[in-house]
Amino acid sequence: MAERVLYLVITAAGPAERIDVMIELARAEGWSVYCIASPSAVEHFLDLDAVRELTGHSVRTGYQGQGQPALPNADAVIVAPATYNTINKFALGIADTYVTTQLAELNGLGVPIVVLPFVNTGLAGNRSFQRSVEELRRSGVRVLLGEGEFEPHPPRTGDRAMATYPWKLALEAVSGS
Ligand SMILES: Cc1cc2nc3c(=O)[nH]c(=O)nc-3n(C[C@H](O)[C@H](O)[C@H](O)COP(=O)(O)O)c2cc1C
Repeated sequence: MAERVLYLVITAAGPAERIDVMIELARAEGWSVYCIASPSAVEHFLDLDAVRELTGHSVRTGYQGQGQPALPNADAVIVAPATYNTINKFALGIADTYVTTQLAELNGLGVPIVVLPFVNTGLAGNRSFQRSVEELRRSGVRVLLGEGEFEPHPPRTGDRAMATYPWKLALEAVSGS
């Protein structure tokens, strides 16, 4: 049977440094993983060679270049870690990077999307963010935020929060896709 295709969208928050954890969990469940990263995630957090090694595919950071293979159609999408910035842009329909354009399009096509935020209590308490989460949920996106899902940490405790970041929940949420 052909492997199911998972797009793993990586944005610029601490857990991006440990994206190997998510990739390995997904590979173990039989997903073929294609990573798409925001420019800030690449600048601050990702080792592109290491990710390519783990997935067997180059990390997509922009539109298909000449000679670069096209991405196969996605069966499901996980956005993890999902920043405050990307969640707000996605909810507003902004498409100013490859990541946000892909998310806009995939949502319009009805591809299942799971968003696993990584935000502190300050960002999570912001009214714009709360509106964005509501809007995404209304448009069929599964946002794993709240009790028993991702629970925001106090500012400046992100390093500790990374240890319990619930990668597994994102995978469970797409496993029926
Ligand atoms: C070291 C570092 C840690 C950051 N941690 C977070 C974070 O935990 N959550 C968050 O939403 N943004 C965090 N940011 C801010 C985002 O990276 C910033 O808003 C960026 O514009 C997000 O771009 P992106 O959503 O396109 O990846 C962090 C930035 C840096 C440099």
